[in-house]
Amino acid sequence: MRLHEFYFDNLSSLGKGDAPAGRLRDLLAANYGGYDEWKRDFFAVGTMRGVGWAIAYQDSMSGRISNQWITLRQDGNLAGFEPLVVVDVWEHAYMLDYKPADRGKYVEAFFENVAWDVCESRLIAPK
Ligand SMILES: [Fe+2]
Repeated sequence: MRLHEFYFDNLSSLGKGDAPAGRLRDLLAANYGGYDEWKRDFFAVGTMRGVGWAIAYQDSMSGRISNQWITLRQDGNLAGFEPLVVVDVWEHAYMLDYKPADRGKYVEAFFENVAWDVCESRLIAPK
């Protein structure tokens, strides 16, 4: 159930729709070219066919950030990778507000409510 804790903890009730700042912004830019490019890739992962999770992980060895898809919370987590941004895209996560075919609207709403300070606090200290 730990991924649900990551998911709920990286949601903000403020709904500011802002972008990450500081070191997280810099790392997303270094790995994806910028926040918008990272967001576009994360959206694509989060709207893939199937049910599961979209997760931006940080590799604890290289420090690199990458967006990944896993189906089950207990399977597929990459060893040594720390979850930074987590969204549950199983239908139960959004079916009260969106139709299954409207998952993209749910992921867009997620972006409007990310607690970026929490995501940044998950970054591994530079070596
Ligand atoms: Fe869930």
